[in-house]
Amino acid sequence: MSNTKRGIFIAFEGIDGAGKSSQISLLSSKLIAEGIQIYDTFEPTNSPIGSVIRQMMSGRIQGAHETIAALFVADRVDHLLNSTNGILSKIERGVSVISDRYYFSSYAYHSAHIDMDWVISANSISANILRPDINLFIDVPPEVCIERLEKARFHFDIYENLAAIREVRKNYLNAFKKLQDHENIVIIDGNGEIQDIRSRIWHVVEPYFNAHY
Ligand code: TYD
Repeated sequence: MSNTKRGIFIAFEGIDGAGKSSQISLLSSKLIAEGIQIYDTFEPTNSPIGSVIRQMMSGRIQGAHETIAALFVADRVDHLLNSTNGILSKIERGVSVISDRYYFSSYAYHSAHIDMDWVISANSISANILRPDINLFIDVPPEVCIERLEKARFHFDIYENLAAIREVRKNYLNAFKKLQDHENIVIIDGNGEIQDIRSRIWHVVEPYFNAHY
């Protein structure tokens, strides 16, 4: 048996336009500078399953909401277990993983169309394989997110209008309440300057790495 310490697994969550990607890149650069091995990743993944998901979300391929949700489950299990860069083996080898979205995205986005308990139950396979050490939700008002998305119109998808984004935020908060006894959830105030948000995140994350290494 090796006595390698497991890596830390952080899942970033937020509505579209919440600024997850810039905060993830700031955090991972900081951790790497501290000498910590980091693997950055995201969902939907860029596997063949992820590609089908993107085509369904854009409407290029038809699929029921249940089908999309089930494909996300498959994509997530592959994200955890695939033999080239699966998250589980990274964590077991001592590499810390930061994922841009994980199963709380499914709870928040799919429960607009499907019962949330169905989505949670479909994802229990992933939860049983690996729960994040921290589910980190960057909370930004939907109005601010819409403004940002309009400025950087590089992608369109079916979720990007104000009412939908508001509903997704509400679903996130419901899911956090529902699962508060099973999951470590941290809500970060995403208002303000990028550097202020970065410090708030660092304040939460640093103790995990101090205790660990
Ligand atoms: P993408 O443009 O890849 O990422 P982001 O908006 O985070 O930059 O789109 C991901 C979209 O997929 C986003 O709108 C949320 C949605 N999504 C789900 O509906 N279910 C899920 O389980 C996940 C992980 C994402």
